[in-house]
Amino acid sequence: MSLVFAINGQRFELDLSSVDPSTTLLEFLRYQTSFKSVKLSCGEGGCGACVVLLSKYDPVVQNVEDFTVSSCLTLLCSVNHCSITTSEGLGNSRDGFHSIHNRFSGFHASQCGFCTPGMSVSLFSALLDADKSKSSQFTALEAEKAVSGNLCRCTGYRPIVDACKSFASDVDIEDLGFNSFCKKGASSCMTLPRFDSEKRICTFPEFLKDEIKSADSGMYRWCSPASVEELQSLLEACKANTHGVSMKLVAGNTGTGYYKDERELNYDKYIDLTRIPELQEIRETQNGVEIGAAVTISKVITALKEIRVSPKVEKMLEKLATHMEKIAARFIRNFGSIGGNLVMAQRRQFPSDMATILLAAGAIVNIMSSPRGLEKLALEEFLQRSPLEAHDLVLSIEIPFPHYQSLLFETFRAAPRPQGSALAYLNAAFLAEVKETMVINCRLAFGAYGTKHAIMCKEVEEFLAGKVITENVLYEAITLLGNIVVPQDGTSNPSYRKSLAPGFLFKFFHTLTLKEQPSNGYHLDPSKPLPMVSSSQHVPVNNEYYPVGDPVTKSGASLQASGEAVYVDDIPSPKNCLYGAFIYSTKPSARIKSIHFKESAVPDGALAIISCKDVPTGGQNVGTKTGFGSEPLFAEEFTVNVGECIALVVADTQRHTDSAANLAVVEYETEDLEPPILSMEDAVNKASLFDIFPFLYPQQVGDTSKGMAEADHRILSSEIRLGSQYFFYMETQTALAVPDEDNSIVVYCSSQTPQYVHSTVAACLGIPENNVRVITRRVGGGFGGKAIKAMPVATACAVAANKLQRPVRIYVNRKTDMIMTGGRHPMKITYSVGFTSTGKITALELEILIDVEATLGLSMVIPSNIIGALKKYNWGALSFDIKLCKTNLLSRAIMRAPGDVQGTYIAEAIIENVASSLSLEVDTIRKINLHTYESLALFYKDGAGEPHEYTLSSMWDKIGVSSNFEERVSTVREFNKSNIWKKRGISRVPITYQVSMFATPGRVSVLGDGTIVVEVGGIELGQGLWTKVKQMTGYALGLLQCDGTEELLDKIRVVQSDTLSMVQGNFTGGSTTSEGSCAAVRLCCETLVERLKPLVERSGGPISWNKLISQAYAQSVNLSASDLYTPADTPTRYLNYGVAVEVDLVTGQTTVLQTDILYDCGKSLNPAVDLGQIEGAFVQGLGFFMLEEYITDPEGLVVTDSTWTYKIPTVDTIPRQFNVEILNSGCHEKRVLSSKASGEPPLLLAASVHCATREAVKEARKQLRTWKGEEEGSGSTFQLPVPATMPVVKELCGLDVVESYLEWKLRANSRL
Ligand SMILES: Cc1cc2nc3c(=O)[nH]c(=O)nc-3n(C[C@H](O)[C@H](O)[C@H](O)COP(=O)(O)OP(=O)(O)OC[C@H]3O[C@@H](n4cnc5c(N)ncnc54)[C@H](O)[C@@H]3O)c2cc1C
Ligand code: FES
Ligand code: FES
Repeated sequence: MSLVFAINGQRFELDLSSVDPSTTLLEFLRYQTSFKSVKLSCGEGGCGACVVLLSKYDPVVQNVEDFTVSSCLTLLCSVNHCSITTSEGLGNSRDGFHSIHNRFSGFHASQCGFCTPGMSVSLFSALLDADKSKSSQFTALEAEKAVSGNLCRCTGYRPIVDACKSFASDVDIEDLGFNSFCKKGASSCMTLPRFDSEKRICTFPEFLKDEIKSADSGMYRWCSPASVEELQSLLEACKANTHGVSMKLVAGNTGTGYYKDERELNYDKYIDLTRIPELQEIRETQNGVEIGAAVTISKVITALKEIRVSPKVEKMLEKLATHMEKIAARFIRNFGSIGGNLVMAQRRQFPSDMATILLAAGAIVNIMSSPRGLEKLALEEFLQRSPLEAHDLVLSIEIPFPHYQSLLFETFRAAPRPQGSALAYLNAAFLAEVKETMVINCRLAFGAYGTKHAIMCKEVEEFLAGKVITENVLYEAITLLGNIVVPQDGTSNPSYRKSLAPGFLFKFFHTLTLKEQPSNGYHLDPSKPLPMVSSSQHVPVNNEYYPVGDPVTKSGASLQASGEAVYVDDIPSPKNCLYGAFIYSTKPSARIKSIHFKESAVPDGALAIISCKDVPTGGQNVGTKTGFGSEPLFAEEFTVNVGECIALVVADTQRHTDSAANLAVVEYETEDLEPPILSMEDAVNKASLFDIFPFLYPQQVGDTSKGMAEADHRILSSEIRLGSQYFFYMETQTALAVPDEDNSIVVYCSSQTPQYVHSTVAACLGIPENNVRVITRRVGGGFGGKAIKAMPVATACAVAANKLQRPVRIYVNRKTDMIMTGGRHPMKITYSVGFTSTGKITALELEILIDVEATLGLSMVIPSNIIGALKKYNWGALSFDIKLCKTNLLSRAIMRAPGDVQGTYIAEAIIENVASSLSLEVDTIRKINLHTYESLALFYKDGAGEPHEYTLSSMWDKIGVSSNFEERVSTVREFNKSNIWKKRGISRVPITYQVSMFATPGRVSVLGDGTIVVEVGGIELGQGLWTKVKQMTGYALGLLQCDGTEELLDKIRVVQSDTLSMVQGNFTGGSTTSEGSCAAVRLCCETLVERLKPLVERSGGPISWNKLISQAYAQSVNLSASDLYTPADTPTRYLNYGVAVEVDLVTGQTTVLQTDILYDCGKSLNPAVDLGQIEGAFVQGLGFFMLEEYITDPEGLVVTDSTWTYKIPTVDTIPRQFNVEILNSGCHEKRVLSSKASGEPPLLLAASVHCATREAVKEARKQLRTWKGEEEGSGSTFQLPVPATMPVVKELCGLDVVESYLEWKLRANSRL
């Protein structure tokens, strides 16, 4: 029997007996076809990079159904007779790009591009849905939802949302953000590339329709029974088999995103449930609705919304549907079934939403098990039963329609992301029959809080039955609840989760206690939608150096959107290619006794374990080599820290190598060894510190003893702790090494530092550097993580390839990447500050401990970065003691704005503390302590620049006006006065940022047809380097003023970095590589212009570019020029400024209502690119300050090691109103055409969100103190940790806030 399906209209037929049924669609697409657009980023359904459109044809009704799925979880065999459309199937460079691709490009919505194909397909599917549904049009709301489950780490989502909204019928393009179709102020807009429904892409080819027939696959490992009877006999046959057949029932297979162990188990039989009509049916009965177990969650949602019974029941069904829309992302709900979800909850304690909400709705489950046969069970009983056996089948779920006179139904969930795509800390659903304010009876369900399964709160239900709801009754109910909703030991944030239950119960019943509905204060309806994202941008366009300064679209953006852009893992595997996966240490400071495989058998396909023993003679065991020293590649006898590379297992396929690495066992021994250093304090006690080069140690300012003596007040030895942040680039670390002739090697790698990879590989293999070639075309996001940390990946790959003399590729899986790569440096800060009664700070003394782990990497730059950013205020005098602590904890690496982001935060925390202790407004203290130019010069020395370059204080005032700051402060005050359950905060924060320029090479060559090829040292990471370089080339060659030079931009191609072609590439980082590369290219172009000028002059009149080049070729003019830009004669440091404001706080959940950024970009080289960098960096900073918990166990092993536990921002967590103004200060003649960097500094501005949250928390605490009858001022000083996650915020606002409110009310009532 064959498996027949289509991909982008192309027919595929596979012999079912030769297909491993555990193969995923993604594996097939990536490894066995030429399609590249489907990207692997998480492999667990949590990111959307692998999304494809799946289309099914129903021959009976002759209808094509299209929906998105995550190809990393969908099994290949599931797509029999289906058609798949990927992003390159929508359009491509050969047949023309799709309008979606063009809009992503025109809205500047693709940076590194790794997420863009998945985004494109998600949007396409949403457009298709709207197009097919005759009743509805594609609205802005739908547009925003279309990509709500897709992650992007670069853009900050705003341009993506705008690209999606540009298709909406209720949006005017002029109201959308900055784009290349409609220039602000222009009298008319260009026609947008249309989504043409008439010429719609055929998602289901005709030929496939004729091939659809029922499958008789009982004899294969993959079986698709067509009826329950057939399924039953299959199950019985499996059971009866005396050899013990392992089997798995499969619906959508999305469960393996969570239970990854199920992927590893190679079952004898996979039984597909999706072709059984009874399991796919949705049937309305007299008393309710019966849903087949294999019905997808998306279909359940649609069905529940369409049922017409009575308004009350419809409302309940609508609420169930709305809650289900928060389960995972659409591309999971489209394939994941209701039955699969309940089985996961029943069998493996999955923290399901479905189980909780259906429990409250009184659902019934029909199951078929042996020996019991058919059974009808209340969901509660089903959940309480012992776990289902593998051959037990859930047939259907019944949701009864309650016929109450007066029905209340509500569902709740608290999760890091309001719109879903995150498991709940706690979920709940309540159903009550009420008569006026009396509860006749109710069903109260809670789940996901660290319980075996969702539960009903019987005691509370019984207590409430027949009671009139009063504050007293509510208080007693809540007290009862406190003993029932108790998380199991080991659950994260137990007290927070517990505290949510009373809050939800209170929300549900509270309105019954009120005479009138509150006009504000409490929003009873938790499904109240978030406001949509809107934005404004003021972007100066400067044509002085045209096309430099023009907001041209990113080079290759459409190619990225269609998925044709080639990343390292897209390079086809060479013949005989092998695959490597790391074996990393799980024990710090231990002796490695042995490495072997579990059960001692060599896993399938495993060929070798490469370790330090395989470093060739003459080579060194070195994995990184920089100006600061080198570090080992493989651990030798001892491990130093967790996540350290011990070995590389090499196998014949990616799947085999991943399984082999999972089966690898490292035995450790710690006898007679020094215990590891697992804290910064321990490192200090044991004097385990790195020396800091004196020239990198920042300078103290003034005399702090004197400053302290002058102070009226002092805060002494206050402490701040800051944690880490993981890079979460969408493309994980990857390399491909290919041995070449004469002991040489070519390494393709995703790296910010190819030059250093080059020298490390040569040193490790013990070969001359001219035997190594490192090629990097583009990087799917770096953020610093692909500087140092990419080197060992490429080097290990090279060692394996060298040893086995075969190509070897490594594509590190997300979990390993999170454990091995590490992230930002955690630190502990102790400070003493002196200040006057007016809030003027006179002295600041700091002690800073930085956790650097055992190897130094580039950490030496952190101290000066911290102090550089912290000096944004005039501290009077500043002294510090900074220690780089050598610990045995998780590996660290410099991440975007390394040290700077912490420095700016430390400054704000100190300012806030000063304001609190003086009971003054924080904004006032900030303003008082802003620098004058004189104090700036004292603190920054030469970095201060000229007086007219100091724009910060004027920007401070400007943002005050443009954001209506004062007015909004009053509005916030009013809001806080009249709202009990919501508090708002507002804040404006300045930043300064020092950047350094580095030597950077470039080469410009003109080919015979007049096209131009440019090479630069910098790497395209998504930051728009190629685009700026193209513009600079266009500008600099355009100075020849030939006819046609205005079209030069189209003739320029920037090509991949090749370390043998372009030496001294240096590294890409620190925000200035684009500038440096542009400067290098400008030098090259100047040389070419010099060489070509005589020909232009000799032509005696206008000459076309192509003619000029032909003549130059004829006369053997050298048309290739290379140069190295060295920044020696320009200032190497300068400052950037910016300010951002406002946040809204709902108990525990923060919503950033509005952000206004004013950012000095100098004369921007490309304002569209810079705008993207500003927004993207800000949102990454928002992740650091508010969401991202990179937690380790005490020994340093990362616990939050997946998309399930590590939450980067999504569309629903970005500012609802996101305004950016780029200030064209343009007076920096010594810089590259007066530009300033934008890659890192705006990340610091996200501190404003944290500061505003603190303001809101302050208000909440003030109110709580009143309720508790505590003294005014007590507890007003507090620290809001970073990240300020929901549990953290709620804890500071009062875990017992509801109880305290009720106690306060009861006390007040008793006094009446
Ligand atoms: C990224 C992601 C986020 C998620 N977030 C949430 C969330 O926030 N809230 C939430 O509630 N859920 C969430 N889920 C879970 C999701 O709802 C389930 O994965 C999905 O419903 C499972 O359905 P499936 O058809 O894919 O099941 P499968 O993966 O096919 O099956 C799951 C298990 O159930 C068994 N099984 C399936 N159907 C039957 C049946 N009819 N009878 C007996 N056994 C059966 C299978 O053998 C397997 O063991 C999330 C999932 C993912 C991947
Ligand atoms: S790779 Fe499939 S969802 Fe992330
Ligand atoms: S552009 Fe979205 S992840 Fe890079």
